Order: sequence, then structure tokens, then C-alpha cells
Amino acid sequence: MMQPPAIALGLRLRVLAEGPGASAAQVITPAPVGAADDLEALVAFASECDAVTFDHEHVPPAGLRAMAEVTSVQPGADALVHAQDKIVMRERLTALGVPCPRWARVGDRAAVEAFAAGAGWPVVLKTPRGGYDGKGVLVLDSAGDPAWSTAEAWLADWAGRGGLLAEEHVAFTRELAALVVRSPSGQAAAWPVVETVQRGGVCHEVTAPAPGLDEELGAHLTDVALRVAGGLGVTGVLAVEVFEVLRDGRPTVLVNELAMRPHNSGHWTIDGAETSQFENHLRAVLDLPLGSTRARAPWTVMVNVLGPREIEARHEDLYRSYLHVMAHDPGVKVHLYGKEQRPGRKLGHVTVHGDDLESVRARARHAAAFIAGEIDE
Ligand SMILES: Nc1ncnc2c1ncn2[C@@H]1O[C@H](COP(=O)(O)OP(=O)(O)O)[C@@H](O)[C@H]1O
Ligand SMILES: [Mg+2]
Repeated sequence: MMQPPAIALGLRLRVLAEGPGASAAQVITPAPVGAADDLEALVAFASECDAVTFDHEHVPPAGLRAMAEVTSVQPGADALVHAQDKIVMRERLTALGVPCPRWARVGDRAAVEAFAAGAGWPVVLKTPRGGYDGKGVLVLDSAGDPAWSTAEAWLADWAGRGGLLAEEHVAFTRELAALVVRSPSGQAAAWPVVETVQRGGVCHEVTAPAPGLDEELGAHLTDVALRVAGGLGVTGVLAVEVFEVLRDGRPTVLVNELAMRPHNSGHWTIDGAETSQFENHLRAVLDLPLGSTRARAPWTVMVNVLGPREIEARHEDLYRSYLHVMAHDPGVKVHLYGKEQRPGRKLGHVTVHGDDLESVRARARHAAAFIAGEIDE
């Protein structure tokens, strides 16, 4: 998704791909294959680039530092660690005075139960590193929850690596995300705050702007995101995922986590904003002036196309669904990632924008459900 704006800007992308079939490798050449922890591959790749950036967080700091010896690496290792390690992130945000859920580092079952004694059940356990789409997030309802067998295995696995993150289970009214972008010279811009809907830890739907968002709260959240971007020295796109909660009847936010890259909560910007997160990410990592983040329409809804749970529902070839979807609604924008279908996997997304939220949302949901094979008319 970085390639279209790169073409428009006349920038040459290359990708170090995890495998020859990777989505990015299908549209960018050359695409040498190399693992994110293969120092030699990283340095060989980086030495041929003017700037290096990422589409996932899981590049170990040693690799980032080695690449920074030979080229500009954006964001740098010192910033990126806050998106790689949820405990480091919690420590830093707490030090910056950013509101977070109650949390603790826990090394064993007794520590989890001690945390629950103060914060109450349920407790959310998270692996500090390597998680995404809810993998690495476990909710424990009580001391007798059957999920404890998994929790015990995780605790054992992470015992020698600093333990796990425990958090209070936040009774949020909804999830929001603030998307901002910052350049090395410190210019920053913010897109409208969005509402996100997660199911089983996977993002399903994003509405821009967040409907009915308290104006002051939106400004506060944007300010928090810009403060985090500046405070952590983030370059490129930063997504700040938050929980909206009611405190004494007033809405406020608690920060869930950070992503330092173009993020699913910002895919709506490709069709719905004057400058997409991908274009502004490119501009930022090259320290070019940033483009306008204004929305193109009053409402934009993005719905993910997820691999169907039931094999029978699967379209052998997602392209087959285009005829119906496009004939039905010429305003729908379809984006597919060239990935092999697996249940629940993000295969693509659709976007619709317009003046009426209900109709925009219904149209986007219909198109995504049809492409995914959940409905057949
Ligand atoms: N402390 C919490 N309280 C309530 N729900 C949570 C909490 N932490 C995570 N969740 C839910 O799980 C989802 C995934 O958690 P997150 O930490 O964002 O993991 P990932 O890295 O997989 O995105 C969140 O979007 C939210 O819906
Ligand atoms: Mg998340």
C-alpha cells in the first residue's frame, strides 16, 4: 500500500521480504528475501537504500542499530522499542503522565493473583513482544478460569525474559485510535480520531471520524498522540489505540497500545483523506513536508475482508466477487492484499465515503461480507 504513493512521487521502493509470496514482494521489485533477525541480510539490504522503514514492528533492536550504521532508519530503534515491547511502552507512557489502564509486570501466578486482588478480575495478560491481532492477549476471568493452563505456559515461557504484562480489564464504551505522523525535523500532523471495532482482538471496522466524539476529548486525544510522538522521538506514522471510558459520567481515554507504522486504523485514509497514511509515512521518513490530513467526506467507513471461518463459504478466487460488488455499488473501493486465505486472516479491506453514516456503513459492510463469502447476495 506504500507503492502507489511511491510511484506518484517518483520514489523507488525495494522490499526485504519475509518470503517470495509476501504481499509487498508481489508489487515491489527487487524483493530479496531475508528474515527480520538476519543481521547480514538487513545490512546488505540497507546499504543499498537512502532510507529504511518497516511494515511490522518485529525487527530486533540489534538489526535496527546495524542498519542505522549504513543508512537512515526511520523510526529509530530507541523509538520503535515502545511499539515492540508492551512493558517498555507502559513504563514510558506512565513516566510521561499518559493515562493507561492499571498494569503490572508479573512473573508468576502469585503475582497475577496479587494484581487481581487490587485491580479486580478479569485480568488481561499480554506477552510483551511478538503479538498482533490478539495473539498474545489472554483474559482471565477468575482464579479458576480454565485459561490458566495457557497463562501458566506463558508465564513459564517468559520467566527468563522479564515476565508478562498484566492489565485491568477495561470496561470501555468503545475503542478509538489517534493517527499522527511526525518527521525527523519535528513537523507533525494528525488525522481525525477514528472509532475502531475489534472482535477477538482483530480489527473489523473503522469509522472516521469517531461518531459523536466529544470535541474536547478528541482534541485531548490528538494532543496525547502528538505528545507521545514527540516525547518518544517517533518518525513516520504513529497509531495510538485507546479505550474510551466513562469517569464520573464524563468520557475520557486510556491508552491501550502504540503502533509505529501505517496501521489498520488508518487504511481509511487511502480513499478518505487528502493525504493517505502511506504517502505521509513516505514523506516523513524522507523528512519531506507533510501533506494535508483532512477528510474528503463527512464520513468514511473501512471494513476488513477477513478469511471466512467456514471453508464452504470461501470464494476460490476473491476476484470472482468483483462483478457483483462493483455492479452493486460503484462507490465502493476494494483493496486486496494477495494473501492466501486462512480463517480470520486479513485479506483486504473495502472503503466507502459519503454524507450519510448509516448508508456508508451499510454499503461498506455489505461489500466486505460479500467478498469474504459471508453473504451471497
Ligand atoms: N486491558 C484491556 N481491557 C479490555 N480489553 C482489552 C485490554 N487489552 C486489550 N484488549 C482488547 O484486545 C484487543 C487486542 O489487544 P492489544 O493489546 O491491542 O493486542 P494486539 O497487539 O494483538 O493488537 C484490544 O484492541 C482490545 O479489544
Ligand atoms: Mg492492538
